Amino acid sequence: MGCLDPRGRASPRRRGYDAAVTDIARPSAPIARLGDRSLFPGLGPAAYLNHAGVSPPSVPVRRAVLELLEAYATTGGHAVVATLGVRARLREKLARLLGVRPVDVALTFGTTHGVQAIALSFPWLRGDRVVLFDGEFPANVTPWQRAAELFGLETVFIPLAPFEASADAGLGALEEALRRGARLVAVSAVQFRSGLLMPLAEMAALCARHGAELFVDAVQALGAVPFDAARIGADYVAGGGHKWLMGVEGAGALYVRPERVAALRPALAGWLSHEDPVSFLIEGAGHLRYDRPLRPDASVFEASSTGALAQAALDASLGLLLELGIPAIHAHANRYLDRLEPALQARGFSSHRARDASRRSCILAATPPPGRDPRRLRDALAREGVAVAIPDGLLRFAPQWPNDADRELDRVVAALDAALR
Ligand SMILES: Cc1ncc(COP(=O)(O)O)c(C=O)c1O
Repeated sequence: MGCLDPRGRASPRRRGYDAAVTDIARPSAPIARLGDRSLFPGLGPAAYLNHAGVSPPSVPVRRAVLELLEAYATTGGHAVVATLGVRARLREKLARLLGVRPVDVALTFGTTHGVQAIALSFPWLRGDRVVLFDGEFPANVTPWQRAAELFGLETVFIPLAPFEASADAGLGALEEALRRGARLVAVSAVQFRSGLLMPLAEMAALCARHGAELFVDAVQALGAVPFDAARIGADYVAGGGHKWLMGVEGAGALYVRPERVAALRPALAGWLSHEDPVSFLIEGAGHLRYDRPLRPDASVFEASSTGALAQAALDASLGLLLELGIPAIHAHANRYLDRLEPALQARGFSSHRARDASRRSCILAATPPPGRDPRRLRDALAREGVAVAIPDGLLRFAPQWPNDADRELDRVVAALDAALR
């Protein structure tokens, strides 16, 4: 890997990158430490707090992508052999992250791909009702609306406000909707707007009691909040790799509870969804057939050539996350937010973070003081080296393992004061 700029001069940014690459190549070198951002040389903002949006890739992620790209550049199609190993490792790591078996995990292009796969493949009957949440990220709404159009379903929206008040109030509202009959409930594990961690196990139990299935969009939880799909009792879980999992766009996962696979009608199946799909390409004549059965597990949704570079990125990043441990990451980010929250409140922001610590993710979203335009605040913070997002007009602070309150907080608070002046 070179470290020269386009004119052939050594670039300081590239030197930092190469130094970090050399560093992690040494077996004794620490790979990742909570609060240490030395694996992110060249990252512009002094406080990068948008991991709920898009995360910057670490050196190991950059290196994994470049190495695979190099294999394509030097060997062409032979690089596909390397991707098979990446996919097997990635599936195993995603299964550990989700608390399920590797065979129950499909590699996808991202969260929406997983939602679409189930929305279009579910064994719907005309008139079935789908329960959705008012205030959800649209990725977990549009595919269900399309399914409603295509299969003659009814969508029912229930508000998130009761869940924000208390888990009991929320579960009461859900049960009311379930009593009127529902085939499926689709919810985000962590709400993108408020950061609220939903009571998923209780929701799954309620669904089961009323004969409905539970679909979970877990993209704001995976990598930030300890998650166990089997313990929760979720039927389907979808997620993507470029937020808290710190890969790049184009790779994700879909868990399908094994008991549910047989009933699905895999509408997104493709040539790689069959048993033994590639023998006709590698074993000579006589293997080209169209009648091979579809695979009887979640991987039936792995239908085509996929985002190998994004999968290599996610594999590398997940290695770091699993080594650090998701409970440790969650605690680390919340120590950061524990210190940030009173500083925001003292400046007139109103925090949406759950009072009940067991309902917290790694997101702190705050309504700006009256009369303050969130777009101007975001831009002013960016000028001071603090990167945040403003989903639906809230300022959203989303620290991940490389953030460090001791290093960053004074700067964030000074940036808030500057932004408010
Ligand atoms: C809850 C939730 N689901 C889905 C997405 C995005 O989905 P995709 O990565 O498929 O575009 C987001 C992005 O912010 C999100 O917050």
